Amino acid sequence: MAKISKSAAKVRIDALSEELRRHNYNYYVLNNPVITDFEFDLKMQELQALEAMYPDLAQPDSPTQVVGSDIAEPEMPGQAGHDESDAGNDGNNAGNDGNNAGNDDTERHARPDRASAKFEQITHKYPMLSLGNTYSSEDMEAFCTKLEADNGGELEYSCEMKFDGVAICLTYKDGILTQAVTRGDGVKGDNVIDNVLTIKTIPRQLKPGDWPREFEIRGEIFMPYAAFDALNAEKEEIGEQPFANPRNAASGSLKLGSSAQVAGRGLDCVLYHLLGENLPFKTHSETIAAAASWGLPVSELSQVRKGAAQVLDYISYWDSRRKALPYATDGVVIKVNDLALQKRLGFTAKSPRWATAYKFKPEQALTQLLSIDYQVGRTGALTPVANLEPVPLSGTIVKRASLHNKDQMDLLDIRIGDWVYVEKGGEIIPKITAVELKKRPADAKRPDFPTLCPDCGTPLVRDNDEARHYCPNRTGCPTQIKAAFVHFVSRDAMDILAGEATINQLYSLGYIRQLSDLYELSKEQLLALEGWQEKSCDNFLGSIERSKEVPFERVLYAIGIRHVGKTTAKTLAKAFGDIDTLAASSLEQLAQTEDIGPIVAASIADWFADEGNLNLIEKLREHGLQMRAAARETISNVLEGKSIVVSGVFSISREDLKAMIEAHGGTSPGSVSGKTSYLLAGDKPGESKVKKATQLGVEIIDEETFYKLIGR
Ligand code: IVH
Repeated sequence: MAKISKSAAKVRIDALSEELRRHNYNYYVLNNPVITDFEFDLKMQELQALEAMYPDLAQPDSPTQVVGSDIAEPEMPGQAGHDESDAGNDGNNAGNDGNNAGNDDTERHARPDRASAKFEQITHKYPMLSLGNTYSSEDMEAFCTKLEADNGGELEYSCEMKFDGVAICLTYKDGILTQAVTRGDGVKGDNVIDNVLTIKTIPRQLKPGDWPREFEIRGEIFMPYAAFDALNAEKEEIGEQPFANPRNAASGSLKLGSSAQVAGRGLDCVLYHLLGENLPFKTHSETIAAAASWGLPVSELSQVRKGAAQVLDYISYWDSRRKALPYATDGVVIKVNDLALQKRLGFTAKSPRWATAYKFKPEQALTQLLSIDYQVGRTGALTPVANLEPVPLSGTIVKRASLHNKDQMDLLDIRIGDWVYVEKGGEIIPKITAVELKKRPADAKRPDFPTLCPDCGTPLVRDNDEARHYCPNRTGCPTQIKAAFVHFVSRDAMDILAGEATINQLYSLGYIRQLSDLYELSKEQLLALEGWQEKSCDNFLGSIERSKEVPFERVLYAIGIRHVGKTTAKTLAKAFGDIDTLAASSLEQLAQTEDIGPIVAASIADWFADEGNLNLIEKLREHGLQMRAAARETISNVLEGKSIVVSGVFSISREDLKAMIEAHGGTSPGSVSGKTSYLLAGDKPGESKVKKATQLGVEIIDEETFYKLIGR
């Protein structure tokens, strides 16, 4: 780094420190990073270099000296009001992830996954530190050669994947898990044991073995891609902002108030650091092998390698192959294997001297911004979507990327015609991270952010504390109405045989405006339309007729109350029994219902306070839809004690199959475990479920075999 004057360094150090603290807060507390890890690391490196240049300017609480904290504070100091981090922060990725190009659905006022301060805080027995890191293989080599020069020659290193999740510290006493504490500020963290106990791979009780009476084991809680995709699909369905990447999803999930909700999130864990007094091990790899023998989840990808060359081999082996792993990794960690040497080397204020991380560089592409579309989503939120000159990036051709909101566009000072850097946020979804100002064409044009809804012309609104613009015309804006129909007819809702094209056709003809209009369509009307034949009419109308038998809980889900997804609808149906009782319930009654939080309760109360919605319910009731929960049907007990996981596409909906399993005395959990009796697999079953079932020796059966089992 070029030498700069002390006064200039001071200004820059203050600015960088402030900025890094804010980014730490966005990342650890809000789970909503607004810059990439790479950008963060560059800023950190710059700060480190300046502090090295003028050591007396280095503050003891500099971000180079303290680890980021995930402990929620009411507000980040200096963050009140408006900056990029208050962009609808709901503990996930509102407004800055880029993964929702073309489908917006930020829920205003919805902060369901916000980090919560309600957990018991526990001081760590040993502080939870961070790791030094680099993006350069030369630095990795230098790390090894320096250690080896200082410590008598070639050393063994445990080479491990760097899992991109949330650090956790588990304590086992007499073989029982007694606490599970997040890293927090490194000194104290939140005890999230109830949530951690829902993670199937973490045993509450260790297998019999020679485990120490008391020890700590640290690792990472993460969300595999499959669970992440399922969660985001569900979030989008109920009009919530999806998570930017699996790390944010894992972190948000771990801090949820309801363990029942956490249980459904498919979290997993890998443990990589054993700590305790007088442990009988000589090497790190022995500790991990022992932990595995006690039933703890450890990584199968770790390997002991000797010397720098072998370490670099491990890194280059995984640099590309890691993309095929079912979970996110962001680098490789190497640790001196010899525990006595680890002890001698000790720690700096922030990280161990016996370990370091090599981080994989996020892939970037430079391309030109051709135009910007402004799209209205199901909940009326407007998303600016960039149309790009197609460019290859991490195995796909990127043509579009989200620009999130007006603030983000202003921040980038983006112009049509600009050359822009595209990255995959969380390495999955493209986002524009910067504009290459050096290449800005003279005729680059400042975009005009619309003031009216591009669909219905209604003036857009923006709440003071929101970064997004919305079309408030919920019942009159075509996109919002059509999206409500698409949701209503979907398989897990009313299971009516209509796709988006049918909905668009019927809408554009004016045949459908209100959900109940579907039940008034006639065969003559349809036969007169382009593309409709006798058979397709019969199928469509038949499915509409059958939808009248769809259980109440699915009707509740289908009508599209914000925040009421499948699980919530089930809970409501069970708790209130029928639509009239639900409609007449007060906000307090709703909020007191188990698993219903205040945001969901308010959304339900608002929905039933609307005259138009009550009218809709009356019409649907007149058409014969189920407005009351049926007493649970029991057909047989042939599946008693059997647990059957359902995955894939079948001739009937998965919901119906699950109901059948329950009606025959079985249970149907969401994921495969050692207790699963069968995996009932249809077309395109979840890859991870099949893999897990195969690993655990769980029998995989098809739909036909299932019917035989229940004697159908
Ligand atoms: S060892 C004392 N091993 O990366 C250092 N950390 O950026 C103990 N991480 O805080 C950490 N994979 O949360 C270690 N195989 C691995 C890891 C790993 C991911 C996380 C961990 C750490 C962070 C540093």
